[in-house]
Amino acid sequence: MLTKVHSGLDPAPGVWWKPAHKAEKVWVAIAFAWCMVLFAMMPLWHWKGGQNPSGIRRRVDPQAFYARTVEFATQYKVGEDRGIPIVAPPAGADVYLTGMTYQWYPILQLQAGAKYRLHMSSLDLNHGFSLYPLNVNFQVMPGYDYALEVTPTASGDFRIICNEFCGIGHHTMVGRVIVVDGTGKTLADNATAVIRDREAK
Ligand code: CUA
Repeated sequence: MLTKVHSGLDPAPGVWWKPAHKAEKVWVAIAFAWCMVLFAMMPLWHWKGGQNPSGIRRRVDPQAFYARTVEFATQYKVGEDRGIPIVAPPAGADVYLTGMTYQWYPILQLQAGAKYRLHMSSLDLNHGFSLYPLNVNFQVMPGYDYALEVTPTASGDFRIICNEFCGIGHHTMVGRVIVVDGTGKTLADNATAVIRDREAK
């Protein structure tokens, strides 16, 4: 008598699998519905979330951008910290910040409540602009000028942390943004200035 042999080449006959349980179908439906919610949130958050940078990106030559940054730094230099110029541009100015292995150039001194157009780019690799202790994060890429309309709302002595791994000195890539308030008080020369966030009095 011939025994029926089943090999991997032929599909198994009939319904050999266990049909999905009702609970499983429900969970798949819930997961799918949630996917649709998240999908809808992407455009919704863009328009309603108020979290999106008003940035404009432009192609730029990294060397040319750095040269422009140096020119800007020379024009508005007011001091120096560990060899890096402290630069205080007037309200409404175009501000330039270059990230490079392993520093942020220059140190910016801005006025609280004043508007600036902040241009960021990198001279070499992909760096991450992270303003500590505030939750402000941007990608800084060579070849792109990322311009943002910014108005500092809190005075203090802030740090720029590189949050994109960029090499052996990544952890040392710390920059500085000083925001002075309307009293004209400057924290630029105060190395021990306390970092204050917007909750602090
Ligand atoms: Cu620059 Cu990490």
